[in-house]
Amino acid sequence: MKGIKIVSTGRCLPERYISNDDFSKVLDTNDEWIRSRTGIKGRYKCQDETCLSMATTAAKKAIDKAGIDKNEIGVLLVATQTPDYIFPSTASLIQKNLGMDEEVMAFDISAACTGFLMALGTARGLLETSAKKYALVIGSEELSRILDYEDRSTCVLFGDGAGAVLIENSNKEFYQKAWSRGNVSALNCLGPGYDNIKLSMKGNEVFKFAVTALEQGIQEIMTQKKITMEDLDYCICHQANERIIRHVMKKYPGHEDKFYMNIEKYGNTSAASIPIVLDELNEMGKLREGMKILCVAFGAGLIWTGVYLEL
Ligand code: ACO
Repeated sequence: MKGIKIVSTGRCLPERYISNDDFSKVLDTNDEWIRSRTGIKGRYKCQDETCLSMATTAAKKAIDKAGIDKNEIGVLLVATQTPDYIFPSTASLIQKNLGMDEEVMAFDISAACTGFLMALGTARGLLETSAKKYALVIGSEELSRILDYEDRSTCVLFGDGAGAVLIENSNKEFYQKAWSRGNVSALNCLGPGYDNIKLSMKGNEVFKFAVTALEQGIQEIMTQKKITMEDLDYCICHQANERIIRHVMKKYPGHEDKFYMNIEKYGNTSAASIPIVLDELNEMGKLREGMKILCVAFGAGLIWTGVYLEL
């Protein structure tokens, strides 16, 4: 099974930033509650931007940084739950926005907060038979469109944003495993045509699930690949709640610095959270050839997945 090389990355956040104190002016909440329960200090919220515009900008940044011919991209995937349109797909519109060749496999993937990792695995497979060299994998979310800003237990948790990763096939290791449970009640959002299309979540239930899902994802993949946390350079978790990640970290004492976190700045950006982390690490020069990375995510479904990759 071929692996992937991360060629470049990009991200896009909306202009408008909402701090916890901003929320406390309009809701019965406060900075102390939000920070201590979630680790979040603020999040971005779209005004003029949309899921599509952020995805396009993040994608353009990744292409420009790589300096490649955009017509060498054969696979263009967008993971999102908040597309501008149900159809056409966000990916298809990005192809047009960026003036790319029509010969590209462009489509969206719906897998909640695991969407980026599901798209990464899909792109890796599709690249093996593509006549072109690169795949562009994007996670973009305008969650503010489906948040109920009168529900303090959900609206403070999420943020808008996009991240993009340009990859090519390599002969390095890649391994992915995923699970699905078909649960609606813990976390859901109705589709078009219904009244009140808003995110609904039972926080406690999701918290308990998240901790076990991340632990299982990490452990099973390490067992399968016959590695330990010692062998990894990073263990990147979906940024949903700092407390969830710290809970998982406790299982691996001495390896805390491998669990990179940026949730305090962005909140939970769902499918965009892991590509935004990858872009930050890349920008700081912290993604180097030969590194071993494990990414794990969980989301509505309830679904969860882990990806092991050697850069
Ligand atoms: N400000 C102040 N008080 C609040 C707020 C708020 N923003 N939100 C809830 N409360 C109150 C509740 O009303 C409750 O009050 P009560 O005891 O008087 O009824 C109290 O705080 C405790 O509420 P809990 O829900 O028990 O708080 P908890 O410690 O579980 O934290 C939280 C809630 C942060 C949502 C936590 O359960 C959590 O993080 N769950 C996981 C969420 C998650 O990961 N979601 C993403 C899933 S996948 C995806 O990314 C889409």
